[in-house]
Amino acid sequence: MFELSSPGRRAWSFARTDLPEWAAADLVPPEHLAPEPVALPEVSERDLVAHHTRLTHRQYSVDLGAYPLGSCTMKYNPKLADVAASLPGLARVHPAAPPSCTQGWLELLSELSRALAEVTGMAAVTLQPPAGAAGELTGLLLLRAWHASQGDTGRTKVVIPDSAHGTNPASVTLGGYEALTVASDHRGCVDLAALRAVLDDEVAGIMLTNPNTLGLFEDDIAAITAAVHEVGGLVYYDGANLNAILGVTRPGDMGFDIVHLNLHKTFAVPHGGGGPGAGPVAVTEALAPFLPGPLPARAPDGTYGWRTPARSIGRVHSWHGNALALARAYAYLLALGGDGLRRVAEIAVLNANWLRRRLGDHYDVPHDRTCMHECVVSAAGLKRRTGVRAADVAKRLLEEGFHAPTVSFPLVVEEALMIEPTETESPQTLAALADALVRIAEAASVQDHHAPRTTPVGRVDEVRAARRLVATFDARLPPTGGG
Ligand SMILES: Cc1ncc(COP(=O)(O)O)c(C=O)c1O
Repeated sequence: MFELSSPGRRAWSFARTDLPEWAAADLVPPEHLAPEPVALPEVSERDLVAHHTRLTHRQYSVDLGAYPLGSCTMKYNPKLADVAASLPGLARVHPAAPPSCTQGWLELLSELSRALAEVTGMAAVTLQPPAGAAGELTGLLLLRAWHASQGDTGRTKVVIPDSAHGTNPASVTLGGYEALTVASDHRGCVDLAALRAVLDDEVAGIMLTNPNTLGLFEDDIAAITAAVHEVGGLVYYDGANLNAILGVTRPGDMGFDIVHLNLHKTFAVPHGGGGPGAGPVAVTEALAPFLPGPLPARAPDGTYGWRTPARSIGRVHSWHGNALALARAYAYLLALGGDGLRRVAEIAVLNANWLRRRLGDHYDVPHDRTCMHECVVSAAGLKRRTGVRAADVAKRLLEEGFHAPTVSFPLVVEEALMIEPTETESPQTLAALADALVRIAEAASVQDHHAPRTTPVGRVDEVRAARRLVATFDARLPPTGGG
């Protein structure tokens, strides 16, 4: 945009104000104005639109094709949800509008909370956290508030299996606890003996990602929750992977105390590009009095208002969460209904298992048993035979017209390729994706170190990008000079 800039050209015009001059001058207090003019590109509307349209044509997106980025659930989001969220009665309401003017919004938030409580098998829900990790931190604050209410302030540790999502240990640290890592066993699940060995009265709880980052359903959930409860800890379910179990089983029925969901992975809210997301937290009856407030609530006369729980930990968002993401999720829930949600999980799991079997002759499958919504294969053998690593496979897949899977994660698998096909891809698309991955393995050569060669951006020098990152625009730099 700076290169297109021409002094005096503009893509906007302001209406003349009809305020008297003295009032217009005072409209923005001088201390809120920048002391110097800010250098911005000066372009016409025509150039502005053309520039961004060109960029979108270079972009790969969930609307364009399969995006099997494991752990992220990058699936096609039905447009129905966008239509619902752009209804003026929802989109043009200010969050500070009084309840008398926002009965519809309050009913939506209240009904969504009820539906999510039903889906998770929990008693109460907060919709405030704006992301999965924000939900995790909220969960940890709830966990702390619970222990404090019991007069139990000596607990300093939270157990994290090594197959947990990376945000879990980060949230534990941010929540003021020490993360205690427990190894997985040969099946890729929590090693029960190792877990029991670390459990004592200093443990505040466990955070369990289920299905875990290997795409596996934890085998010993009942034993895990019982063992942690036995030492007085709480059990937290990272439900960001809920698309694997929707309508089939519920964390509440498995004995969990706190659950967070990623609506931006499971419920027609786009994931990626920095949000906005929604990470609601659902809890048991015992923890409900500590939830962030205010919560939408229905009075006996049928009208809606806001209510703050008696021992609330306070707000975790300035308003009521990312409300339009919540509206999208509600539209999706209503459109699919209970049977439709179950079908989401069934097809997501079927697709992942089909891929696991299809790729098994060409890649290593470290935990070759029924997986859930994603499968983890390894390019370790391919690397030994040909020098081609998981990252090279991912870059080659871009040349084949697909988005890359997640690579080098989970950390417990060497040369990991974490593939999440999701339920929205057809059998034909899945077959084409599998064929591309098989072709890449069969023709692997050192040339692959230079992939991708057909995309608008080639392979970046990752070491230089990390060590000499230049994140600001500088037209004087040569094209390869940036990070
Ligand atoms: C299992 C799991 N937990 C937590 C998160 C964190 O969610 P967010 O990126 O919204 O903070 C993710 C993100 O994809 C996830 O996959």
